[in-house]
Amino acid sequence: MNTAVNYRMLGNSPEFTTLLRSLDIAAATDVAVILLGESGTGKELLARQIHCKSSRADAPFVAINCAALPEGLAESEFFGHAKGAFTGAVSDNPGRISQAEGGTLFLDEVGEMSLDIQAKLLRFLESGEFQPVGSLKQRHANVRLIAATNADLREKVKQGSFREDLYYRLNIVPFHVPPLRERSGDVELLMASITRDLAEQYKLPAPSYTKAAMACLRSHDWPGNVRELRNLCERMLILFSGREIDEGNLPREIRHQHRKQWTFSLPDTGICLEDLEKELLQQALEKADGNQSKAARILGLTRYAFMYRLKKYQLQ
Ligand SMILES: Nc1ncnc2c1ncn2[C@@H]1O[C@H](COP(=O)(O)OP(=O)(O)O)[C@@H](O)[C@H]1O
Ligand SMILES: [Mg+2]
Repeated sequence: MNTAVNYRMLGNSPEFTTLLRSLDIAAATDVAVILLGESGTGKELLARQIHCKSSRADAPFVAINCAALPEGLAESEFFGHAKGAFTGAVSDNPGRISQAEGGTLFLDEVGEMSLDIQAKLLRFLESGEFQPVGSLKQRHANVRLIAATNADLREKVKQGSFREDLYYRLNIVPFHVPPLRERSGDVELLMASITRDLAEQYKLPAPSYTKAAMACLRSHDWPGNVRELRNLCERMLILFSGREIDEGNLPREIRHQHRKQWTFSLPDTGICLEDLEKELLQQALEKADGNQSKAARILGLTRYAFMYRLKKYQLQ
C-alpha cells in the first residue's frame, strides 16, 4: 500500500516546529501515540507522517474513523468476520486490524468508540490477540497504534463513556496539536503555500492579498483551523483568480470578527504615543498570560513585529 504523504506538512512557527521535533522522536520508537487537538489542526496528516518516518513505513497505514462506524458493524470492521457470521456476511472479511499487519492503525476520533469495542480493543492491545466475529479462532496482529481526538477523554472517563484502563493505555505519549490561532506566523505561510499549490492544481493565476486583508486573516480565530484556511484559499482562488483581494472581499464571518470593537478619543491635553504603545503591549501580554503569540494576535501584529516592539521598549 502506498502511504506516502502527497502533501507537504507546512508550518514554521515555534509552536508547530517544537511539536514536529517531538513527533520525530516518537516516530523512531514503536510507542503508542495520541494526538490531541481541535478539528482541522492536522492530526491525521501528522499521524501519516509519524508512520512514514517509522520503521513500519513500508507496511500499511490503516485509518478508522471511530465516529463514522455504523452501529452494529463496528466489531466486524475492526476485527473482521467469518463467512456466515451474520446476514450479509457472504465471505470472510479480515477486518482493519489484520489489514494493518506490520504497519500502523490510526484510530481517529477515538473518544466516540462504543464501550463494547473499547473492551475488545483493550484486550487486543494487551495481548495482541483478537477474535473475528463468528469465528472461534484467535488471531494475532502486530500493529502500532496512533489515536486522535478533539474530545476531553479525561472528562469522558469521569462520565463513564470511556474506559479508564483504555485511557491510560492510549495516553502513554500524548501530543497537543496547537490550534492555528496559536501558531504565530503560520497563517501567512499556509495562505501563501496552499494558494500556490491550488493555483497550480487548478491551472489558474493565484490571487494576492492586501495588507489590510492579511491583517484581518491574521486576527481571525480559525475555529476550523487548517481545514478552514484551506477551504478559504480554494474559494478565494476560484472567485478572485489573478486579482488582488482586499478586506472587503473576505467572507463576512472573517470580516465581522475583525471589525473595530472599541473607540479611542484623543484627550485635549494630548498623549505620549510611545507610552500608550508600551501600555498596550503590557496589557496584551497580561491578557495572553505571557503567551507572546497570543499577545501579538490581540494587537493584530505578527509575532516578529510584536517582539520588535517589546525589544524597543525593553519589555522583555
Ligand atoms: N501543517 C499542515 N500543512 C499543510 N496542510 C495541512 C496541515 N495541517 C492540516 N493540513 C490540511 O488541513 C486539512 C485537515 O487536516 P487533518 O489532518 O484532516 O486534520 P484533523 O485530523 O486534525 O481534523 C487537510 O486537508 C490537511 O491536508
Ligand atoms: Mg480528522
